[in-house]
Amino acid sequence: MATNFVTVTDHKSGKSVELEVMEPTQGSPIIDLRALHRELGLYAYDPGFTVTASCWSEITYLDGENGLLQYRGYPIEQLVEHSSFIETCFLLLCGHLPTAAELELFSAEVTRESLLQEEMKRFFEGFRSNAHPMAIMVGVVGALSAFYHDFQDIRDPKNRKLSAKLLIAKMPTIAAWSYRYANGLPFEYPRSDYSYVENFLHMMFSLPTVDYKPEPLFVRALEVVMIAHADHEQNASTSTVRLAGSSEANPFASIAAGIASLWGPAHGGANEAVIRMLMEMRDTGKPMQHYVDRAKDKKDRFRLMGFGHRIYKNYDPRAKILRDLCYQVVEKCEMGGENRKLLELALELETLALKDDYFKQRKLYPNVDFYSGIILLTIGIPLNMFTVIFAMARTVGWISQWNEMMGDANSKIGRPRQLYVGAKHRDYQPVWQREPADE
Ligand code: CMC
Repeated sequence: MATNFVTVTDHKSGKSVELEVMEPTQGSPIIDLRALHRELGLYAYDPGFTVTASCWSEITYLDGENGLLQYRGYPIEQLVEHSSFIETCFLLLCGHLPTAAELELFSAEVTRESLLQEEMKRFFEGFRSNAHPMAIMVGVVGALSAFYHDFQDIRDPKNRKLSAKLLIAKMPTIAAWSYRYANGLPFEYPRSDYSYVENFLHMMFSLPTVDYKPEPLFVRALEVVMIAHADHEQNASTSTVRLAGSSEANPFASIAAGIASLWGPAHGGANEAVIRMLMEMRDTGKPMQHYVDRAKDKKDRFRLMGFGHRIYKNYDPRAKILRDLCYQVVEKCEMGGENRKLLELALELETLALKDDYFKQRKLYPNVDFYSGIILLTIGIPLNMFTVIFAMARTVGWISQWNEMMGDANSKIGRPRQLYVGAKHRDYQPVWQREPADE
């Protein structure tokens, strides 16, 4: 029973409607707008969904004003300290932390499914060798639907869990193989004695001649980066997965749509863009103020990459975690010399921006992408693999959100409305009667 209502009055017709205010377990109350059209014949306009909830969810909660992020209620800070990526996957997917036996079984099942069908190699080989690994990933993940159609009755929860496990399991292999192919290297197979993250590093860097021994600090660092990226409620790529999946498209095609959405520089592509920006700063040697001024100039399209967020109007908790980790990795790593300079530039930029009124007034803080790139670079991950790693980590979030939506008997196909501002009725004219249109 609702305890609060908002009354909306249409002054043209004089009619009013009482809209129920829904109470979440945490966060701002939400107005149920569904009676708006039924009672008043009105729709709501909200480009970019800045104030509109598109679904209910029990998976991830974030409080942008206070810089909080929780997966299934657990603060991100506790998860990065105590959990592993595979345990976090179980948590996101199943809703609770696993027992030791559940974790062992889940881990073994994921490892067992990490191989790709041999025929899939030909998909990689069909790409040009200079293809961006994200392009390969979108294509190969979409192609998985051609291999796993036996259990595609997605209304059956067992099948949904199975496709979730398959996707989580195969993503590191697809990610690593997209890199191997682009570098003319033979594909490396996953090993059952390695953890999820170790296996990814092994498939990236082992050679037939030399086994890559995953460095424990790098494994832990990548584990933390991946836990921090595992889910982030209804962001652009997750909403894309939900929208694609709402038509009952198969999960592999829906996740491929999410990967495509993640690729853009305003979303997951920002981690790559941050490093390119820091490298330009290093190479030109221009004072940092020059870039801060450019970012503030409305005539210049330049933005500080890795800064700002739709929801966080405070320090992104993930950026805080990754900044501390970045220090540790760069500090302890002998190869960190080059990257130390990038870290120094990032810290200088952050300090300058956070003192600047433009950034203060707009509450623009470093986001998750600001420090993650330096960590990845120090681990030895090439620039064009950064967004691929983001996609690999976010797969569990996407598939958990998809699973939640598909399990809801009341879910509907996504179908936003529009404010039509085009021509009114026009009658067709034969071609010889038409005037040239004004350009
Ligand atoms: N540099 C300079 N100005 C900025 C920046 C920035 N990075 N971000 C936002 N602004 C300004 C923007 O110009 C606008 O100013 P005004 O009010 O004068 O017009 C104001 O801040 C609000 O920005 P917005 O673009 O309306 O905010 P949004 O919520 O639509 O966009 C964003 C959020 C993340 C796309 C944006 O902050 C941005 O482009 N940041 C840089 C790219 C980036 O780091 N993306 C990663 C996001 S976090 C990880 C992920 O989602 O994948």
